Amino acid sequence: MRIIVAGGDGFCGWPTALYLSKQGHDVAIIDSMVRRKIDEELRSNSITPIASLAERTAKWKELTGKEIRIYMGDLQHFDFLKLVMEQEMPEAFVHFAEQRSAPYSMIDREHAVYTQVNNVVGTLNVLYAIKEIVPDCHLIKLGTMGEYGTPNIPIEEGYLEVEHKGRKDRLPFPKQPGSYYHLSKVHDSHNIMFACRMWGIRATDLNQGVVYGLSTDETDMDPVLANRLDYDGVFGTALNRFIIQSAIGHDLTVYGKGGQTRGFLHIQDTVRCIEIAAENPADPGEFRVFNQFTELFSVLDLAKMVLKVAQEEGLDTKISNLENPRIEKEEHFFEAVNTNLLDLGLQPQLLTDDVIRNILKTVLLHKDRVIKENVLPNVKWK
Ligand SMILES: NC(=O)c1ccc[n+]([C@@H]2O[C@H](COP(=O)([O-])OP(=O)(O)OC[C@H]3O[C@@H](n4cnc5c(N)ncnc54)[C@H](O)[C@@H]3O)[C@@H](O)[C@H]2O)c1
Repeated sequence: MRIIVAGGDGFCGWPTALYLSKQGHDVAIIDSMVRRKIDEELRSNSITPIASLAERTAKWKELTGKEIRIYMGDLQHFDFLKLVMEQEMPEAFVHFAEQRSAPYSMIDREHAVYTQVNNVVGTLNVLYAIKEIVPDCHLIKLGTMGEYGTPNIPIEEGYLEVEHKGRKDRLPFPKQPGSYYHLSKVHDSHNIMFACRMWGIRATDLNQGVVYGLSTDETDMDPVLANRLDYDGVFGTALNRFIIQSAIGHDLTVYGKGGQTRGFLHIQDTVRCIEIAAENPADPGEFRVFNQFTELFSVLDLAKMVLKVAQEEGLDTKISNLENPRIEKEEHFFEAVNTNLLDLGLQPQLLTDDVIRNILKTVLLHKDRVIKENVLPNVKWK
């Protein structure tokens, strides 16, 4: 298939582009490089050194003979996007290209506005570009499990059968997101659903859990292909953050009581889920929703797992509870369905001590790159 991976320089997008290319798909990347600019803004970095996108794709071609074309530009610029679509005529458009940090979106008004404009306008442009240029192209859009929030009922995959005053309907599952970033994804979901209904676009919304891990078979092929790994209080996700804290002898900082339960998955499963979605496209007009996670953990569960492995490796660390900078429930019911991807053949890579140990070993190699002032959270919700 001809596939565009938008956001293909990012944490999820880069390994996905490589994996799809390896599987024989014809891959092109769109990326504005804004994530690298945000590193400069926050005076932060990836703990792994990352090569430029041009160096990465050149190395991939040298090692495999496969070309991944690059288009540097912003999805907010429709003229640019239109040209790329006309050039590539994609059969699938994988859309990772958003501002994805909840704390970043909560820094202040400017960052909230930037996040929502970037994400909502970018996605609207993708919808119009598909409608005008490649109406049969399958949009595979990354949503997040955080769109649902933490309702006191089990979370379904996108829709809820409702009986109300003697009548029944299948309605979008209620959304109660916890940040302006998560809200941007809810707005995207509504816009995509509307476009499917109006124009017959085919779309899959992947409500992804928190992604942990770093490498895939492809990114491991050469240091130039290495994936980024975020650890700072703004972009670092829970498990990765704890592993890096353990490597530098920092306490594992659990926000509040640590009872916040979320869906998680390994980066290797992210890339496989995208392949599954691409190979099993939604029907024209269908807005399909998959909950893309493999296991549920509370934040405290994760900290305990990392602590155990870190201590086995002789590292001196402990768990400490920080005042929660976010406004969220710290003890709550959480149950979510995730059968759609499993039914289509996903075989999850589960979180074991060895998985944690492998990430830790890579982190230890680069621990001198950690900017210690960035490790603790500095963005508050209120
Ligand atoms: N990482 C996670 O744990 C996680 C969890 C759930 C959902 N997601 C979703 O997956 C997607 C990818 O996340 P990630 O962790 O790879 O993020 P990332 O920040 O590492 O990568 C996103 C990439 O998109 C690019 N980008 C952003 N806005 C753009 C624009 N307007 N035009 C062109 N390029 C743009 C950035 O430069 C970056 O390279 C996001 O949509 C995110 O919401 C991620």
